[in-house]
Amino acid sequence: MTNAHERHTALRTLGLKLDLTRGQPGDDNFDLSNPMLTMVDDKSVVTSSGVSIRNYPGGVAGLQEARELLAPLLGVLPEEVLVGNNSSLALLSNTLMWAMLKGVPGSPAAWSKGETKFVVTVPGYDRHFLMLERLGIGMIPVEMTAQGPDIAAVESAVASDPAVKGLLFVPTYSNPTGDTTTQAVAERLATMPAAAPDFTIFADDAYAVHHLDDTPPPHPDLLGAAKRAGHPTRVILFASTSKITFAGAGIGFLAASREMLAWLTDLLSTQMITPNKIEQYRHVLFLSRYPGGIPGIMRAHARLLAPKFSAVEEVLKRELGGRGLARWNTPKGGYFISLDTILPCASRVVELAKQAGVALTPAGATYPFGKDPQNRNIRISPTRPPVAQVHKAMEVVAVCIDLASEEAR
Ligand SMILES: Cc1ncc(COP(=O)(O)O)c(C=O)c1O
Repeated sequence: MTNAHERHTALRTLGLKLDLTRGQPGDDNFDLSNPMLTMVDDKSVVTSSGVSIRNYPGGVAGLQEARELLAPLLGVLPEEVLVGNNSSLALLSNTLMWAMLKGVPGSPAAWSKGETKFVVTVPGYDRHFLMLERLGIGMIPVEMTAQGPDIAAVESAVASDPAVKGLLFVPTYSNPTGDTTTQAVAERLATMPAAAPDFTIFADDAYAVHHLDDTPPPHPDLLGAAKRAGHPTRVILFASTSKITFAGAGIGFLAASREMLAWLTDLLSTQMITPNKIEQYRHVLFLSRYPGGIPGIMRAHARLLAPKFSAVEEVLKRELGGRGLARWNTPKGGYFISLDTILPCASRVVELAKQAGVALTPAGATYPFGKDPQNRNIRISPTRPPVAQVHKAMEVVAVCIDLASEEAR
């Protein structure tokens, strides 16, 4: 029996039950926002600008105070922000559905009238792939690089084919690679020629402010670049407070040029009279009073999350460093670590880890249709379990990579 085999057998006897699948905050992260639960009371039912949060009037774009609070997160103007309800994914899918039904500003026809394809970055976010798949939108995968989407591949796909209507990606601390798009790439995305006159970039900026250290990369200004390039409706940004306050009980928001926002508010106002302004005002009061504001609470989150990312790095380095079995990223923010085995054995690693009591995101989940053509990528989500559990789980992962690589040789 080899060393890896022996260690795996020993780990199996421990009866572990660990989970590295969930890209969720820890309960200690949620505790930071507990005071928000009681922020709104019977004395604060009218906002500082005079809007009753208990009643319909106020508009579909959300509270002005919320638009002002959230605009700086995306580096945009408050009048470019629409604040919705609890989910940015819902805003994203809603926008896509309207595009399929009616097209977007500048569309010759509804997108569903013909073939529609999107460029997507890989490895990427499984829910994005599922959303496009369910809508019948074809996917053209391009690699996510340290500078952002493989820009030459995007330019070539977009320039030649009018069926390519969009790009869907995560510009900051990408899920799962942790890469942040540079301003140079943002400028090329904004200026590149597109065969489709209504080519639109759906930038899911879920991790725009989710830094793990004090030297974050510059936030790419996609919307500004698009406006400067004379394509003001090319970019829509999506984000939420799901990983700032409460996951699934925060507020989702989007940002776009005034033209795009006017188109969207017109359509969204057929679906609702107003978003939940009580939730929005609760966020405004809590986050504007938090010491240091949103950057302040993000630093508090980082203090809780950074040791978990360090634990992953430490174990992988100790167990696999210099052995040529795997490579991984060391993200400066976001929620994930992207791990690639060198041999095509990711699904076997996941299977072996399960036998030893460690749940990993299914291999392939980071690719369209759940199929990683190289069977190499594994998404590690270290944010939810306590540090000691992350340590133990990563030891198991490393042993499984060792064993699976041995088997694959
Ligand atoms: C890239 C990305 N977008 C969106 C979401 C979900 O956002 P929301 O809770 O605002 O719908 C996640 C959650 O993991 C994510 O990783």
